[in-house]
Amino acid sequence: NKNHLFKIAVAGTGYVGLVAGVCFAEVGHHVTCVDIDKNKVELMKSGVSPIYEADLEELMQKNYAAGRLEYTSDYKSAYREADAIFIGVGTPEQPDGSSNLSYIAKVARQIAETIEKDCLVVVKSTVPVGTNDKVEQFIHDFLPRDGGKPTGNGNGVGEDIRVEVASNPEFLAQGTAVRDTLQAARIVIGTESKWAENILMKIYEPFNIPVVSVKRRSAEMIKYASNDFLALKISYMNDIANLCELVEADIQDVSRGMSFDERIGSKFLNAGIGYGGSCFPKDTKALEYLARQNGYELKTVKAAIDVNTSQKTILFKKASKRLITFNGLKVAVLGLTFKPGTDDLREAASLENIPLLLNQGAEIHAFDPVGKSNFSKEYPEGRNGKGSIKYVESIREALEGANVCFVFTEWGEIKEIQPEVYKTLMRIPLVYDGRNLYGVQDMKEAGVEYYSIGR
Ligand code: UGA
Repeated sequence: NKNHLFKIAVAGTGYVGLVAGVCFAEVGHHVTCVDIDKNKVELMKSGVSPIYEADLEELMQKNYAAGRLEYTSDYKSAYREADAIFIGVGTPEQPDGSSNLSYIAKVARQIAETIEKDCLVVVKSTVPVGTNDKVEQFIHDFLPRDGGKPTGNGNGVGEDIRVEVASNPEFLAQGTAVRDTLQAARIVIGTESKWAENILMKIYEPFNIPVVSVKRRSAEMIKYASNDFLALKISYMNDIANLCELVEADIQDVSRGMSFDERIGSKFLNAGIGYGGSCFPKDTKALEYLARQNGYELKTVKAAIDVNTSQKTILFKKASKRLITFNGLKVAVLGLTFKPGTDDLREAASLENIPLLLNQGAEIHAFDPVGKSNFSKEYPEGRNGKGSIKYVESIREALEGANVCFVFTEWGEIKEIQPEVYKTLMRIPLVYDGRNLYGVQDMKEAGVEYYSIGR
Protein backbone atom coordinates (compact mmCIF):
# COMPACT_ATOMS: atom_id res chain seq x y z
CA ASN A 1 0.00 0.00 0.00
CA LYS A 2 2.08 2.80 -1.41
CA ASN A 3 -0.13 5.53 0.08
CA HIS A 4 1.24 4.85 3.50
CA LEU A 5 4.89 5.19 2.70
CA PHE A 6 6.64 8.25 4.01
CA LYS A 7 9.93 10.00 3.57
CA ILE A 8 11.49 9.93 7.00
CA ALA A 9 14.67 11.52 8.31
CA VAL A 10 16.20 10.32 11.56
CA ALA A 11 18.57 12.50 13.56
CA GLY A 12 21.15 10.54 15.53
CA THR A 13 22.33 7.01 14.84
CA GLY A 14 22.68 5.61 18.36
CA TYR A 15 20.51 2.80 19.71
CA VAL A 16 17.31 4.78 19.45
CA GLY A 17 17.81 6.54 16.10
CA LEU A 18 19.52 3.85 14.08
CA VAL A 19 17.24 1.03 15.17
CA ALA A 20 14.14 3.15 14.52
CA GLY A 21 15.46 4.18 11.09
CA VAL A 22 16.30 0.65 10.07
CA CYS A 23 12.92 -0.67 11.23
CA PHE A 24 11.01 2.11 9.41
CA ALA A 25 12.87 1.12 6.23
CA GLU A 26 12.14 -2.54 6.90
CA VAL A 27 8.38 -1.89 6.83
CA GLY A 28 8.68 0.07 3.58
CA HIS A 29 9.28 3.74 4.37
CA HIS A 30 12.12 5.69 2.78
CA VAL A 31 14.57 6.60 5.53
CA THR A 32 17.61 8.85 5.70
CA CYS A 33 19.68 8.50 8.85
CA VAL A 34 21.59 11.64 9.73
CA ASP A 35 24.74 11.77 11.80
CA ILE A 36 27.27 14.59 11.96
CA ASP A 37 30.09 12.03 12.29
CA LYS A 38 31.29 11.46 8.70
CA ASN A 39 33.31 8.36 9.59
CA LYS A 40 30.25 6.80 11.14
CA VAL A 41 28.23 7.58 8.01
CA GLU A 42 30.86 5.88 5.80
CA LEU A 43 30.94 2.90 8.12
CA MET A 44 27.16 2.50 7.95
CA LYS A 45 27.18 2.85 4.16
CA SER A 46 29.62 -0.03 4.01
CA GLY A 47 27.12 -2.14 5.94
CA VAL A 48 28.79 -1.99 9.34
CA SER A 49 26.75 -1.08 12.42
CA PRO A 50 28.41 1.34 14.83
CA ILE A 51 26.68 -0.47 17.71
CA TYR A 52 26.63 -4.13 18.69
CA GLU A 53 23.06 -5.29 18.29
CA ALA A 54 21.57 -8.60 17.11
CA ASP A 55 20.03 -8.60 13.59
CA LEU A 56 20.82 -4.93 13.04
CA GLU A 57 23.62 -5.22 10.45
CA GLU A 58 21.66 -7.70 8.41
CA LEU A 59 18.67 -5.34 8.16
CA MET A 60 20.96 -2.36 7.50
CA GLN A 61 22.51 -4.15 4.53
CA LYS A 62 19.21 -5.45 3.19
CA ASN A 63 17.40 -2.11 3.29
CA TYR A 64 20.41 -0.14 2.04
CA ALA A 65 20.63 -2.46 -0.97
CA ALA A 66 16.89 -2.04 -1.56
CA GLY A 67 17.37 1.75 -1.69
CA ARG A 68 15.02 2.40 1.24
CA LEU A 69 17.75 3.32 3.69
CA GLU A 70 20.35 6.05 3.29
CA TYR A 71 22.98 7.59 5.54
CA THR A 72 24.24 11.14 5.36
CA SER A 73 26.00 13.86 7.31
CA ASP A 74 24.26 16.47 5.14
CA TYR A 75 21.30 17.11 7.39
CA LYS A 76 19.94 19.87 5.20
CA SER A 77 19.02 17.70 2.24
CA ALA A 78 17.63 15.02 4.53
CA TYR A 79 15.40 17.37 6.55
CA ARG A 80 14.24 19.36 3.52
CA GLU A 81 12.71 16.33 1.85
CA ALA A 82 11.26 14.66 4.92
CA ASP A 83 7.55 14.33 5.76
CA ALA A 84 8.59 13.46 9.30
CA ILE A 85 11.85 13.94 11.16
CA PHE A 86 12.51 11.66 14.12
CA ILE A 87 14.96 12.88 16.74
CA GLY A 88 16.92 10.13 18.48
CA VAL A 89 19.91 11.98 19.87
CA GLY A 90 21.18 11.51 23.42
CA THR A 91 19.89 13.29 26.52
CA PRO A 92 22.70 12.47 28.96
CA GLU A 93 22.38 12.92 32.68
CA GLN A 94 23.93 16.01 34.25
CA PRO A 95 25.51 16.06 37.70
CA ASP A 96 22.30 17.36 39.32
CA GLY A 97 20.20 14.56 37.79
CA SER A 98 18.62 16.73 35.10
CA SER A 99 18.88 15.87 31.40
CA ASN A 100 21.22 17.62 29.02
CA LEU A 101 18.97 18.79 26.20
CA SER A 102 21.61 20.58 24.13
CA TYR A 103 21.71 17.90 21.40
CA ILE A 104 17.96 18.07 20.98
CA ALA A 105 18.08 21.86 20.82
CA LYS A 106 20.81 21.76 18.19
CA VAL A 107 18.80 19.43 15.95
CA ALA A 108 15.62 21.46 16.50
CA ARG A 109 17.40 24.58 15.35
CA GLN A 110 18.85 22.86 12.30
CA ILE A 111 15.37 21.64 11.42
CA ALA A 112 13.87 25.12 11.75
CA GLU A 113 16.57 26.60 9.56
CA THR A 114 16.22 24.08 6.75
CA ILE A 115 12.69 22.80 6.28
CA GLU A 116 10.67 24.19 3.38
CA LYS A 117 7.43 22.25 3.65
CA ASP A 118 5.02 20.87 6.24
CA CYS A 119 6.80 18.52 8.54
CA LEU A 120 6.13 16.58 11.69
CA VAL A 121 9.03 16.51 14.15
CA VAL A 122 8.92 13.43 16.35
CA VAL A 123 10.99 13.23 19.49
CA LYS A 124 12.00 9.66 20.33
CA SER A 125 14.71 10.58 22.81
CA THR A 126 13.66 10.37 26.44
CA VAL A 127 12.96 13.95 27.52
CA PRO A 128 11.53 15.42 30.73
CA VAL A 129 7.79 16.02 30.73
CA GLY A 130 7.03 19.32 29.04
CA THR A 131 10.18 19.38 26.91
CA ASN A 132 8.37 18.81 23.64
CA ASP A 133 6.23 21.91 24.18
CA LYS A 134 9.48 23.84 24.38
CA VAL A 135 11.00 22.09 21.37
CA GLU A 136 7.98 23.11 19.31
CA GLN A 137 8.24 26.70 20.49
CA PHE A 138 11.98 26.67 19.82
CA ILE A 139 11.47 25.47 16.23
CA HIS A 140 8.85 28.13 15.63
CA ASP A 141 11.15 30.76 17.09
CA PHE A 142 13.91 29.79 14.70
CA LEU A 143 11.84 29.56 11.54
CA PRO A 144 13.20 32.39 9.40
CA ARG A 145 11.05 35.48 9.77
CA ASP A 146 10.66 38.93 8.37
CA GLY A 147 9.12 41.56 10.65
CA GLY A 148 7.67 38.87 12.86
CA LYS A 149 6.14 36.94 9.98
CA PRO A 150 7.61 33.64 8.93
CA THR A 151 9.34 34.02 5.57
CA GLY A 152 10.53 30.51 4.99
CA ASN A 153 14.02 29.86 3.71
CA GLY A 154 14.23 32.43 1.00
CA ASN A 155 12.58 30.04 -1.40
CA GLY A 156 9.17 31.58 -1.27
CA VAL A 157 7.94 29.03 1.25
CA GLY A 158 7.62 29.32 4.95
CA GLU A 159 4.70 31.51 5.75
CA ASP A 160 2.35 28.60 5.61
CA ILE A 161 4.68 25.83 6.72
CA ARG A 162 3.13 23.63 9.35
CA VAL A 163 5.59 22.25 11.87
CA GLU A 164 4.49 20.39 14.97
CA VAL A 165 6.30 18.31 17.51
CA ALA A 166 5.07 14.91 18.63
CA SER A 167 6.33 12.63 21.36
CA ASN A 168 7.00 8.99 20.51
CA PRO A 169 9.00 7.38 23.31
CA GLU A 170 11.08 4.30 22.68
CA PHE A 171 10.76 1.12 24.73
CA LEU A 172 13.45 -1.08 23.20
CA ALA A 173 16.02 -2.80 25.36
CA GLN A 174 19.63 -3.09 24.24
CA GLY A 175 20.53 -6.49 22.89
CA THR A 176 17.00 -7.12 21.61
CA ALA A 177 16.47 -3.73 20.00
CA VAL A 178 15.32 -4.84 16.56
CA ARG A 179 12.89 -7.44 17.86
CA ASP A 180 11.59 -5.01 20.51
CA THR A 181 10.87 -2.48 17.77
CA LEU A 182 9.33 -4.69 15.12
CA GLN A 183 7.30 -6.64 17.69
CA ALA A 184 6.78 -3.97 20.34
CA ALA A 185 4.08 -4.51 22.97
CA ARG A 186 2.74 -1.03 22.23
CA ILE A 187 3.56 2.17 20.44
CA VAL A 188 2.99 5.36 22.39
CA ILE A 189 2.35 8.60 20.53
CA GLY A 190 1.72 11.99 22.09
CA THR A 191 0.27 14.68 19.86
CA GLU A 192 -1.59 17.96 20.16
CA SER A 193 -3.49 17.82 16.86
CA LYS A 194 -5.36 15.38 14.62
CA TRP A 195 -2.93 16.25 11.84
CA ALA A 196 0.07 15.05 13.83
CA GLU A 197 -1.78 12.02 15.18
CA ASN A 198 -2.78 10.93 11.67
CA ILE A 199 0.74 11.12 10.32
CA LEU A 200 2.10 8.96 13.14
CA MET A 201 -0.78 6.51 12.89
CA LYS A 202 -0.02 6.06 9.19
CA ILE A 203 3.72 5.74 9.72
CA TYR A 204 3.12 2.98 12.25
CA GLU A 205 0.28 1.26 10.39
CA PRO A 206 2.55 -1.33 8.70
CA PHE A 207 3.89 -2.46 12.09
CA ASN A 208 0.53 -3.86 13.19
CA ILE A 209 1.13 -3.04 16.84
CA PRO A 210 -1.42 -1.46 19.25
CA VAL A 211 -1.01 2.31 19.39
CA VAL A 212 -1.67 4.27 22.57
CA SER A 213 -2.47 7.79 21.41
CA VAL A 214 -2.42 10.45 24.12
CA LYS A 215 -1.47 14.09 24.66
CA ARG A 216 2.18 14.98 24.40
CA ARG A 217 2.92 15.35 28.12
CA SER A 218 1.27 12.06 28.97
CA ALA A 219 3.37 10.29 26.35
CA GLU A 220 6.52 11.79 27.83
CA MET A 221 5.42 10.65 31.29
CA ILE A 222 4.58 7.10 30.12
CA LYS A 223 8.22 6.60 29.22
CA TYR A 224 9.55 7.64 32.65
CA ALA A 225 6.78 5.95 34.57
CA SER A 226 7.46 2.67 32.74
CA ASN A 227 11.23 2.69 33.16
CA ASP A 228 11.08 3.83 36.77
CA PHE A 229 8.52 1.17 37.59
CA LEU A 230 10.88 -1.50 36.25
CA ALA A 231 13.78 0.04 38.18
CA LEU A 232 11.61 0.02 41.28
CA LYS A 233 10.75 -3.62 40.73
CA ILE A 234 14.45 -4.51 40.58
CA SER A 235 15.36 -2.42 43.62
CA TYR A 236 12.46 -3.93 45.53
CA MET A 237 13.73 -7.43 44.77
CA ASN A 238 17.25 -6.41 45.77
CA ASP A 239 15.97 -4.97 49.02
CA ILE A 240 14.04 -8.16 49.78
CA ALA A 241 17.11 -10.20 48.75
CA ASN A 242 19.29 -8.44 51.28
CA LEU A 243 16.73 -9.20 53.95
CA CYS A 244 16.48 -12.82 52.77
CA GLU A 245 20.18 -13.23 53.48
CA LEU A 246 19.71 -12.04 57.05
CA VAL A 247 16.76 -14.30 57.77
CA GLU A 248 18.00 -17.31 55.78
CA ALA A 249 15.40 -17.29 53.02
CA ASP A 250 16.33 -17.77 49.34
CA ILE A 251 15.45 -14.87 47.02
CA GLN A 252 15.26 -17.10 43.97
CA ASP A 253 12.64 -19.31 45.57
CA VAL A 254 10.87 -16.22 46.82
CA SER A 255 10.76 -14.59 43.38
CA ARG A 256 9.63 -17.85 41.76
CA GLY A 257 6.83 -18.06 44.27
CA MET A 258 5.82 -14.48 43.55
CA SER A 259 6.02 -14.80 39.78
CA PHE A 260 2.94 -16.98 39.38
CA ASP A 261 0.75 -14.09 40.43
CA GLU A 262 -0.17 -12.33 37.21
CA ARG A 263 -0.55 -9.06 39.06
CA ILE A 264 3.15 -9.25 39.89
CA GLY A 265 4.36 -10.87 36.67
CA SER A 266 7.36 -13.11 36.14
CA LYS A 267 9.77 -10.61 34.59
CA PHE A 268 12.26 -8.23 36.20
CA LEU A 269 12.24 -10.11 39.47
CA ASN A 270 15.92 -11.04 39.38
CA ALA A 271 17.89 -9.77 42.34
CA GLY A 272 21.49 -8.93 41.59
CA ILE A 273 24.19 -6.32 41.67
CA GLY A 274 21.80 -3.50 40.77
CA TYR A 275 20.49 -2.13 37.50
CA GLY A 276 22.82 -0.38 35.08
CA GLY A 277 22.69 0.82 31.51
CA SER A 278 21.97 4.15 29.94
CA CYS A 279 18.32 4.28 30.95
CA PHE A 280 17.20 3.19 34.41
CA PRO A 281 19.87 5.09 36.36
CA LYS A 282 19.32 8.23 34.27
CA ASP A 283 15.54 8.06 34.09
CA THR A 284 15.03 7.48 37.79
CA LYS A 285 17.23 10.46 38.63
CA ALA A 286 15.55 12.61 35.98
CA LEU A 287 12.04 11.94 37.27
CA GLU A 288 13.12 12.49 40.83
CA TYR A 289 14.65 15.79 39.71
CA LEU A 290 11.48 16.77 37.84
CA ALA A 291 9.44 16.08 40.97
CA ARG A 292 11.79 18.16 43.09
CA GLN A 293 11.59 21.03 40.58
CA ASN A 294 7.84 20.91 41.05
CA GLY A 295 8.05 20.90 44.81
CA TYR A 296 7.17 17.24 45.13
CA GLU A 297 9.12 14.42 46.73
CA LEU A 298 8.91 11.22 44.68
CA LYS A 299 9.57 8.87 47.59
CA THR A 300 9.26 5.52 45.82
CA VAL A 301 11.66 6.38 43.02
CA LYS A 302 14.09 7.91 45.50
CA ALA A 303 14.09 4.63 47.38
CA ALA A 304 14.79 2.71 44.17
CA ILE A 305 17.80 4.93 43.51
CA ASP A 306 19.13 4.52 47.06
CA VAL A 307 18.85 0.75 47.03
CA ASN A 308 20.57 0.59 43.65
CA THR A 309 23.48 2.76 44.77
CA SER A 310 24.31 0.54 47.71
CA GLN A 311 23.61 -2.66 45.78
CA LYS A 312 26.38 -1.96 43.26
CA THR A 313 29.15 -2.38 45.83
CA ILE A 314 27.51 -4.91 48.11
CA LEU A 315 29.77 -7.78 47.03
CA PHE A 316 32.92 -5.69 47.19
CA LYS A 317 32.05 -4.76 50.77
CA LYS A 318 31.33 -8.37 51.63
CA ALA A 319 34.61 -9.51 50.11
CA SER A 320 36.50 -6.72 51.88
CA LYS A 321 35.35 -8.15 55.20
CA ARG A 322 36.43 -11.68 54.22
CA LEU A 323 39.87 -10.70 52.89
CA ILE A 324 42.27 -8.47 54.79
CA THR A 325 43.25 -6.69 51.59
CA PHE A 326 43.09 -7.07 47.82
CA ASN A 327 46.67 -5.87 47.57
CA GLY A 328 48.67 -8.20 45.30
CA LEU A 329 45.76 -10.62 44.91
CA LYS A 330 44.91 -11.99 41.50
CA VAL A 331 41.26 -11.01 41.07
CA ALA A 332 39.24 -12.63 38.27
CA VAL A 333 36.45 -10.45 36.91
CA LEU A 334 33.84 -12.18 34.74
CA GLY A 335 31.67 -9.77 32.77
CA LEU A 336 32.20 -6.04 32.24
CA THR A 337 29.12 -4.87 30.32
CA PHE A 338 25.96 -3.75 32.16
CA LYS A 339 24.13 -6.78 30.81
CA PRO A 340 24.73 -9.54 28.25
CA GLY A 341 24.15 -9.01 24.54
CA THR A 342 25.62 -5.51 24.45
CA ASP A 343 29.04 -3.87 24.48
CA ASP A 344 27.64 -0.97 26.50
CA LEU A 345 29.35 -0.24 29.81
CA ARG A 346 27.29 2.70 31.00
CA GLU A 347 26.52 2.41 34.73
CA ALA A 348 27.81 -1.18 34.73
CA ALA A 349 28.65 -2.77 38.09
CA SER A 350 32.19 -3.39 36.79
CA LEU A 351 32.79 0.36 36.47
CA GLU A 352 31.82 0.81 40.08
CA ASN A 353 33.88 -2.07 41.49
CA ILE A 354 37.05 -2.20 39.41
CA PRO A 355 38.34 1.20 40.58
CA LEU A 356 37.73 0.11 44.19
CA LEU A 357 39.72 -3.07 43.58
CA LEU A 358 42.54 -1.24 41.77
CA ASN A 359 42.70 1.28 44.56
CA GLN A 360 43.51 -1.55 46.95
CA GLY A 361 46.22 -2.91 44.68
CA ALA A 362 44.36 -5.81 43.05
CA GLU A 363 45.87 -7.55 40.02
CA ILE A 364 42.73 -7.85 37.90
CA HIS A 365 42.26 -10.36 35.08
CA ALA A 366 39.06 -9.43 33.30
CA PHE A 367 37.05 -11.48 30.84
CA ASP A 368 34.13 -10.26 28.75
CA PRO A 369 33.15 -11.55 25.30
CA VAL A 370 32.64 -8.04 23.84
CA GLY A 371 33.21 -5.40 26.51
CA LYS A 372 37.01 -5.41 26.62
CA SER A 373 37.72 -2.82 23.96
CA ASN A 374 35.34 -0.27 25.46
CA PHE A 375 36.56 -0.94 28.98
CA SER A 376 40.22 -0.66 28.06
CA LYS A 377 39.56 2.85 26.75
CA GLU A 378 38.81 3.90 30.35
CA TYR A 379 41.19 1.50 32.04
CA PRO A 380 44.13 0.77 29.71
CA GLU A 381 45.80 -2.58 30.19
CA GLY A 382 48.76 -2.54 32.56
CA ARG A 383 49.48 -0.85 35.84
CA ASN A 384 46.77 1.39 37.18
CA GLY A 385 47.48 3.22 40.42
CA LYS A 386 48.30 0.64 43.05
CA GLY A 387 46.96 -2.28 41.03
CA SER A 388 46.91 -3.55 37.48
CA ILE A 389 44.43 -4.78 34.91
CA LYS A 390 44.80 -7.36 32.15
CA TYR A 391 42.11 -8.24 29.61
CA VAL A 392 42.09 -11.96 28.88
CA GLU A 393 40.52 -13.90 26.02
CA SER A 394 39.17 -16.83 27.99
CA ILE A 395 37.47 -17.66 31.24
CA ARG A 396 40.27 -20.12 31.95
CA GLU A 397 42.92 -17.38 31.76
CA ALA A 398 40.91 -15.21 34.12
CA LEU A 399 40.40 -17.94 36.70
CA GLU A 400 43.77 -19.68 36.61
CA GLY A 401 45.58 -19.05 39.88
CA ALA A 402 43.06 -16.40 40.98
CA ASN A 403 42.55 -15.68 44.68
CA VAL A 404 39.04 -14.40 44.28
CA CYS A 405 36.47 -14.05 41.48
CA PHE A 406 33.70 -11.49 40.89
CA VAL A 407 30.86 -12.19 38.45
CA PHE A 408 29.26 -8.99 37.17
CA THR A 409 27.44 -9.99 33.95
CA GLU A 410 25.41 -13.09 33.10
CA TRP A 411 26.88 -13.83 29.65
CA GLY A 412 25.94 -17.35 28.43
CA GLU A 413 29.49 -18.71 28.64
CA ILE A 414 29.85 -17.43 32.21
CA LYS A 415 26.53 -19.00 33.22
CA GLU A 416 27.70 -22.33 31.84
CA ILE A 417 30.85 -22.55 33.97
CA GLN A 418 30.72 -25.72 36.06
CA PRO A 419 31.45 -25.34 39.79
CA GLU A 420 34.41 -27.76 39.44
CA VAL A 421 36.06 -25.32 37.03
CA TYR A 422 36.26 -22.68 39.77
CA LYS A 423 37.54 -25.27 42.20
CA THR A 424 40.21 -26.62 39.85
CA LEU A 425 41.51 -23.43 38.29
CA MET A 426 41.50 -20.92 41.13
CA ARG A 427 44.27 -20.70 43.70
CA ILE A 428 41.57 -19.99 46.30
CA PRO A 429 38.08 -20.99 45.09
CA LEU A 430 36.32 -17.91 46.42
CA VAL A 431 33.49 -16.58 44.23
CA TYR A 432 31.30 -13.47 44.59
CA ASP A 433 28.44 -13.77 42.10
CA GLY A 434 26.37 -10.65 41.41
CA ARG A 435 23.95 -12.50 39.15
CA ASN A 436 23.01 -15.64 41.10
CA LEU A 437 24.18 -17.89 38.27
CA TYR A 438 25.02 -21.08 40.15
CA GLY A 439 23.33 -23.36 42.63
CA VAL A 440 24.40 -22.66 46.21
CA GLN A 441 24.46 -26.38 46.97
CA ASP A 442 26.32 -27.25 43.74
CA MET A 443 29.06 -24.76 44.56
CA LYS A 444 29.31 -26.04 48.11
CA GLU A 445 29.59 -29.64 46.97
CA ALA A 446 32.33 -28.69 44.51
CA GLY A 447 34.26 -27.09 47.36
CA VAL A 448 33.81 -23.48 46.27
CA GLU A 449 33.31 -20.76 48.86
CA TYR A 450 30.41 -19.00 47.23
CA TYR A 451 28.60 -15.73 47.93
CA SER A 452 25.70 -14.48 45.85
CA ILE A 453 22.74 -12.13 46.36
CA GLY A 454 19.91 -12.95 48.72
CA ARG A 455 20.65 -16.62 49.21
C1 UGA B 1 15.60 -0.50 29.55
C2 UGA B 1 14.13 -0.96 29.43
O1 UGA B 1 14.04 -2.36 29.67
C3 UGA B 1 13.57 -0.65 28.05
O2 UGA B 1 12.18 -0.97 28.01
C4 UGA B 1 13.75 0.84 27.76
O3 UGA B 1 13.30 1.18 26.48
C5 UGA B 1 15.23 1.18 27.86
O4 UGA B 1 15.70 0.88 29.18
C6 UGA B 1 15.39 2.64 27.54
O5 UGA B 1 14.85 3.48 28.26
O6 UGA B 1 15.95 2.96 26.48
P1 UGA B 1 17.98 -1.58 28.92
O7 UGA B 1 18.57 -0.49 29.72
O8 UGA B 1 18.54 -1.85 27.56
O9 UGA B 1 16.40 -1.30 28.68
O10 UGA B 1 18.15 -2.92 29.71
P2 UGA B 1 17.28 -3.88 30.64
O11 UGA B 1 17.27 -5.21 30.01
O12 UGA B 1 16.00 -3.29 31.02
O13 UGA B 1 18.24 -3.98 31.91
C7 UGA B 1 18.56 -2.85 32.71
C8 UGA B 1 19.34 -3.27 33.93
O14 UGA B 1 18.49 -3.93 34.86
C9 UGA B 1 20.48 -4.22 33.65
O15 UGA B 1 21.63 -3.79 34.36
C10 UGA B 1 20.00 -5.54 34.16
O16 UGA B 1 21.03 -6.38 34.60
C11 UGA B 1 19.12 -5.11 35.31
N1 UGA B 1 18.09 -6.11 35.68
C12 UGA B 1 17.07 -6.41 34.82
C13 UGA B 1 18.13 -6.71 36.92
O17 UGA B 1 19.04 -6.46 37.74
N2 UGA B 1 17.16 -7.61 37.26
C14 UGA B 1 16.15 -7.93 36.41
O18 UGA B 1 15.29 -8.76 36.79
C15 UGA B 1 16.10 -7.32 35.16
